Amino acid sequence: FLPVLILLSSALNMASILQKLITPLFSGPPEPPRNKVTVVGVGQVGMACAISILLRELADELALVDVMEDKLKGEMMDLQHGSLFLKTAKIVANKDYSVSANSRIVVVTAGVRQQEGESRLNLVQRNVNIFKHIIPQIIRYSPDCTIIVVSNPVDVLTYVTWKLSGLPQHRVIGSGTNLDSARFRFLMADKLGIHPSSFNGWILGEHGDTSVPVWSGTNVAGVNLQTLNPDIGTDCDEENWMETHKMVVDSAYEVIKLKGYTNWAIGLSVADLTESIIRNMKRIHPVSTMVKGMYGINDEVFLSLPCVLNSGGVASVVNMTLTTDEVAQLQASADTLWDIQKDLQDV
Ligand SMILES: NC(=O)c1ccc[n+]([C@@H]2O[C@H](COP(=O)([O-])OP(=O)(O)OC[C@H]3O[C@@H](n4cnc5c(N)ncnc54)[C@H](O)[C@@H]3O)[C@@H](O)[C@H]2O)c1
Repeated sequence: FLPVLILLSSALNMASILQKLITPLFSGPPEPPRNKVTVVGVGQVGMACAISILLRELADELALVDVMEDKLKGEMMDLQHGSLFLKTAKIVANKDYSVSANSRIVVVTAGVRQQEGESRLNLVQRNVNIFKHIIPQIIRYSPDCTIIVVSNPVDVLTYVTWKLSGLPQHRVIGSGTNLDSARFRFLMADKLGIHPSSFNGWILGEHGDTSVPVWSGTNVAGVNLQTLNPDIGTDCDEENWMETHKMVVDSAYEVIKLKGYTNWAIGLSVADLTESIIRNMKRIHPVSTMVKGMYGINDEVFLSLPCVLNSGGVASVVNMTLTTDEVAQLQASADTLWDIQKDLQDV
């Protein structure tokens, strides 16, 4: 009896701490993640998106993908070391896209960024070539995901992503003028001495130089600003509110000149879009969607309109009442984009 006892106790001692501590109640494959988010590109923008998504507690798993292996591993480790303060159980990274498998949302921020004074549209062919590699890999491992495109020129690259992915159009979203509208709401609200969430105003169309401020819809607590100043947003306006839209257009160039890149505001705005999708909120955001057939636009271009976002992506588009001039500006944005898209190779 004694030798048996000794044998048993030594067998027990051989078991690892893990085996002694944890008694499994079922065996089988681990549960797949329910709200996995992948961020492709761990540069300034990608990491701002990642930290904003983590801090808003939107994902049960976060995956990072990039081609720069050391930077990728460093960013993953740095975030993992903050796990104690986060609610995302798993943070992983790899240059191989298998790490992104089963993603619900994939945020694409990879690519080259604007140099000082360079327009977003100038970047196009360089980033299209990068997307030809990235998008098929995303779809291979997450065929049912929704893709949020952030890389610039965002409207053209959203079109490119739609074409390369084969996804239905409601599951390919460009961050579009979500950021431009946030900048507009901040600047307008600042002038009026109120919080940006209490100033309602939309910037639609192209994210960038030809974006369209919808002055006819600007309001505070339902009071339409155009009824208070019929000239608002025009050249004849003595108060020069038009300047605010000019500041929105110039703001990316200004921040890039000052600090080399923009990242915090875009990261926060992408997390806001992610939340509407993950939580099936049906909130309305100005994001880039396929606008063929709307406002007299006949080409397959992606431009920002007020979109209802739910768990399936873009559920619907709000038919905003626009003035003739605003529609003309949207059509001009569409023409600018189509001029670029029609010459793209292999898309
Ligand atoms: N939509 C918006 O409102 C908005 C705002 C700011 C910046 N941006 C755009 O976001 C993009 C990223 O800007 P950034 O400042 O983070 O640039 P960055 O140079 O800091 O980071 C880009 C990252 O992409 C990675 N990358 C390059 N090729 C890749 C590939 N084939 N696969 C995976 N990763 C790859 C790079 O290694 C790098 O880490 C730019 O196109 C920029 O213009 C968009």
